[in-house]
Amino acid sequence: VTQAPPVRRAGPRDLDRLAALWTALLAHHAGLDPVYRAGSGAEAAWRHLAEGLLARPGAALFVSESGGVPVGLCAVEIAQASPFLAERARAEITELWVEPAARRRGVGRALAEAALAFAGSRGVSRVEIRVHARNAEGRSFWRALGFEPFVDVLARRL
Ligand SMILES: CC(C)(COP(=O)(O)OP(=O)(O)OC[C@H]1O[C@@H](n2cnc3c(N)ncnc32)[C@H](O)[C@@H]1OP(=O)(O)O)[C@@H](O)C(=O)NCCC(=O)NCCS
Repeated sequence: VTQAPPVRRAGPRDLDRLAALWTALLAHHAGLDPVYRAGSGAEAAWRHLAEGLLARPGAALFVSESGGVPVGLCAVEIAQASPFLAERARAEITELWVEPAARRRGVGRALAEAALAFAGSRGVSRVEIRVHARNAEGRSFWRALGFEPFVDVLARRL
């Protein structure tokens, strides 16, 4: 079994190269559902979002590199709970992408585990992810990592 390349926290100097991975992630989702078609200025908007992930103590961006080339990224954020709930906060893994050529070598698992460890270190005990109903590989991946269906998000066209 080939070992998955290591995972580390991303920094500002990674963002140019990670933007390309994020663009691929968005294109992949647009193929699943036109709702995810990129708007004008999408890449600049992602950069802004990614800079926030690097700057906020309750957020992190992870990268996996193989031979100095990024092959995967994962973003995680701590979200405050509704004031009505006993649970104060939870984590959300908001982005996960592994380049097609690097898949099924444990890169996705290593990235997700880094995000889960980050969430645990911030004291939260529950992590959510959103996965599209037609994203079969994503659903299988999250199930393999122990995630279970929680809320059905329903949508209707007007
Ligand atoms: C989902 C994704 C991140 C998985 O990355 P990966 O590096 O291939 O995942 P891993 O190698 O760590 O796989 C871990 C386990 O998940 C499951 N899994 C991963 N991909 C799978 C697939 N295509 N079909 C079925 N099970 C899969 C397997 O149980 C796998 O363990 P195994 O290889 O020992 O059988 C990657 O396929 C991807 O980027 N997909 C497109 C973007 C996406 O869907 N992101 C998640 C959206 S929420």
